[in-house]
Amino acid sequence: MIQKTVLVTGGAGFIGSHLVDRLISLGHRVVVVDDLSSGRLHNLDRAAVFYHTSINNPSVEEIVRNEQPDIIAHHAAQVSISESVRDPIRDAEINIQGTLRLIEISRRFGVGKFIFASSGGALYGEPDQNPCSEQHPVRPISPYGLSKFSAEGYLGMYHNIYRLPYVALRYGNVYGPRQDPHGEAGVVAIFARAMLEGKQPRIFGSGLQERDFIYVDDVIDANIAAMDEGQGEYNVGTGAATSVSQIFDMLKGILKYKWTPTFGPAKPGEVFSISLDSSKLQREMGWMPKLSLEQGLAQTVDHLRSALKGTTVER
Ligand SMILES: NC(=O)c1ccc[n+]([C@@H]2O[C@H](COP(=O)([O-])OP(=O)(O)OC[C@H]3O[C@@H](n4cnc5c(N)ncnc54)[C@H](O)[C@@H]3O)[C@@H](O)[C@H]2O)c1
Repeated sequence: MIQKTVLVTGGAGFIGSHLVDRLISLGHRVVVVDDLSSGRLHNLDRAAVFYHTSINNPSVEEIVRNEQPDIIAHHAAQVSISESVRDPIRDAEINIQGTLRLIEISRRFGVGKFIFASSGGALYGEPDQNPCSEQHPVRPISPYGLSKFSAEGYLGMYHNIYRLPYVALRYGNVYGPRQDPHGEAGVVAIFARAMLEGKQPRIFGSGLQERDFIYVDDVIDANIAAMDEGQGEYNVGTGAATSVSQIFDMLKGILKYKWTPTFGPAKPGEVFSISLDSSKLQREMGWMPKLSLEQGLAQTVDHLRSALKGTTVER
């Protein structure tokens, strides 16, 4: 294997930090840019070179000039759908303008490949059928979905004009260790933590809304494959749609939790039911999800349980 220098933006966050760990274990040199707005320093392997700054900061250009990454794996983002509805301008500043800055810098400094963390769950809107392939029309119903699609549009354009190679990975609902249980993004982390603390989790909407839940290690496998293979857009999911209530029940079983959930109003900008057809990723990069939902949930719970026991460090 050839050692590469990989710049991971958002490398102190949930998915980014798992990617950093994998890259380091494979012997690559890793540089991280993260403003720690939602990421945490203790997620980050010390072997990574860390720049505490925003992707919107013009100094990113100097970082890329000095570090000369072969690959940029772009995970820094405004990640919340409801926050994007509340403040679409801030969402666009980070997810469109910040991403465009990185793409433009990649072109100028000859970065070999741009891997982009896009969103299968937010891009397609309410799909005509599930599982939904990359051929499905893109019609986002949230500013977050539109900002991810805009970034993909710039990548397509830079590829056509400048031949900048890229892979946009359209993730399903990623879950696993280190997901922030305080935020609003990860229903698995939020439910599991509430149950472990003897609290009653809240379901927004009917609970019948369905998502394609994909374990974080499987998402990292896709990123690693994309370093050497692929060009264009790829869904990353299992193809199975699981309702939020089913997740509640599965976690309830694992944790022997006794209570029922409470319910709140559905969140604006969220689709009702989606699962992703990832056969293109399987065909072109030989990728397959390795963990079943049962296995992934059990591993996530194990991790959260030990993180809550005594230590504050969630690694
Ligand atoms: N978690 C999911 O289910 C999911 C699904 C689809 C797509 N994604 C995408 O995957 C990526 C990672 O998501 P995550 O779930 O790990 O979220 P996360 O919040 O844990 O990670 C995002 C990281 O980006 C950093 N960041 C935010 N704004 C920044 C900025 N302006 N400059 C520098 N760093 C900044 C944060 O501090 C954090 O470390 C995001 O691009 C997200 O949109 C995630």
